[in-house]
Amino acid sequence: MAQLIVPRVVFPLLLFLLPLLVASNTVSSLKSLHFTLYEQETVNKTAFLIVNGVTGATTSPTTTPFGTIFAFRDPLTATPDPSSKVMGFAEGVSVTSTFDGLWSVTAGKVTLSLKKHKGTISLLGGTLNTETADTPVVGGTDDFLFVQGYARISPIELGGLHVVYKLQFHLYWPPFAAQITH
Ligand SMILES: *[C@@H]1O[C@H](CO)[C@@H](O)[C@H](O)[C@H]1NC(C)=O
Repeated sequence: MAQLIVPRVVFPLLLFLLPLLVASNTVSSLKSLHFTLYEQETVNKTAFLIVNGVTGATTSPTTTPFGTIFAFRDPLTATPDPSSKVMGFAEGVSVTSTFDGLWSVTAGKVTLSLKKHKGTISLLGGTLNTETADTPVVGGTDDFLFVQGYARISPIELGGLHVVYKLQFHLYWPPFAAQITH
C-alpha cells in the first residue's frame, strides 16, 4: 500500500514545484558584469577645488571642510599603474557632507569604451576619503542602459597630489532591459 501512496503524493508536489524551478532559472540567467578599474586623480590636473568648505571646520591631510566642492575628470586605468591602459573616464562632483570631513556625496558619470561594452554608468552616493565605501549605480546609457548595482570604491594610494582609487563594479541588468531596443 505504501508504495502506491508515494507517487500520488510526489506527482502533485512536482506539479507545484515546477513553476518555482522555472522561476529560479530566470533569476539565475539575470545578466551581470563584474570588473575593476583604477581611478587616477591628480590635484590641479584632473581634480579641482571649486568651492572652499566652511571656514573653521576641522581639517587634516585626509579630511576636507564641510561643504567643500570638488569637480573631477579622472582617467580610469586597467591597473594601479598610472601609465597603464586608459579604459575610460570618471567625471563628476563631490561635496563634503559630514562635519568630521570624512564623507562626501558624489555624483559621477563613468564613460567606458571597452571592446564589448560602450556607454556610461551613473553613480550617486556616499564616498569616504580614507576607507572603502559602496556607492549605488543608478543607471546608464547604451550598453549600460537600465543597469543597477554598486561600485565598491577604495582609496589605495593616499597623500600627495596623486590619489588612486580602486573601483570594483558590480552591475546587474533588470530582466526588462533585454526587451528594450534602442
Ligand atoms: C592648486 O592650485 C591652486 C590655485 O592655483 C593653489 O592655490 C593650490 O595650492 C594648488 N594645490 C596644490 C595641492 O598644488
